[in-house]
Amino acid sequence: MKILVTGGLGFIGSHTTVELQNKGYEVIIIDDLSNSTEKVLDGIVAITGKRPTFEKLDLKEKSKVEDFFKRHQDIVGVIHFAASKAVGESVEKPLLYYENNIGTLVYLLKELSQKNNSSFIFSSSCTVYGQADKMPITESAPVKAAESPYGNTKQMGEEIIRDTCKVTPGINAIALRYFNPMGAHPSAEIGELPIGVPQNLVPFITQTGIGLREQLSVFGGDYPTTDGTCIRDYIHVVDLAKAHVVALERLLNGKNSENYEVFNVGTGTGSTVLEVIKSFERVSGKKLNYKIVDRRPGDITSAYADTTKANKVLGWKAESTLDEAMKSAWLWEQKVRK
Ligand code: WQD
Repeated sequence: MKILVTGGLGFIGSHTTVELQNKGYEVIIIDDLSNSTEKVLDGIVAITGKRPTFEKLDLKEKSKVEDFFKRHQDIVGVIHFAASKAVGESVEKPLLYYENNIGTLVYLLKELSQKNNSSFIFSSSCTVYGQADKMPITESAPVKAAESPYGNTKQMGEEIIRDTCKVTPGINAIALRYFNPMGAHPSAEIGELPIGVPQNLVPFITQTGIGLREQLSVFGGDYPTTDGTCIRDYIHVVDLAKAHVVALERLLNGKNSENYEVFNVGTGTGSTVLEVIKSFERVSGKKLNYKIVDRRPGDITSAYADTTKANKVLGWKAESTLDEAMKSAWLWEQKVRK
């Protein structure tokens, strides 16, 4: 069966492509290469021995999207990763985010609405919860006013899919609300490739560990947590990729109870920034150079998932520990810097 993976050369998209191929699916990737390179295809082939079909295509070009679906009528499922995802950048360039993250979603859904049966997996984020009142966070926690245009595009994306599914029985959709993805494939053939100075914690840690960055700034040491630093739910990207395949198969096999469902995808365990640093020091055997500085505006204190629904209804559970995920991130960093 042919599955379209948009943004399939990106961090989570490439790892999901590997897991789809491992399960025997034929994968076709669309990517505009704005935040990835075709070299990632070589990494995928090195792992699975199968080269996915790749088409460089900007999903903002409606006619190109229409033409693509005319040429690939046999696509039975779409996993939609393609989107801009830098929180800070979205504040400076909101229209770029609304055009790229919302416009493209609408064009994709229009194509799927023409089919009598299609499965759609949407890359959403725990950002939709803002600072949730209760930990761990369940899917019924209220969606709060987004703190950034990026977060708003995830909330709006979910609402657009929900409203479309209400009147389009042919589309079966699942939104996966990711917590904090990290790590790399254990083969170190694919991983996270942040362009420029990494915004996210884990790539900044490994780049500091390898000597590319002088010192990690820990944003805030006065939060109301065990050690004063923020808590997040760090999930191994391979566990996250596997969740996409399980969600897709739920839809392909008609196991979904309604045609729009939402699942949190995390480990269910919260880790503070200092605990993540200690994990790096354990797995690398190196002391990390860091300094606690002022809080980063917009950061929330704590977010970690209640994974009951994903475990019981979706039938998926994260398997890797924080140290295993950190080990894979560190191996990847060393490989990339060779
Ligand atoms: C994690 C913690 C920082 C960098 C964001 C998006 C989310 C998703 C993942 C796309 C926080 C601290 C970080 C640093 C630090 N993005 N930190 N020093 O902000 O939880 O989530 O990225 O899908 O939607 O909101 O992730 O890795 O930026 O930060 O102290 O140099 O690490 O303050 O507490 P975040 P993050």
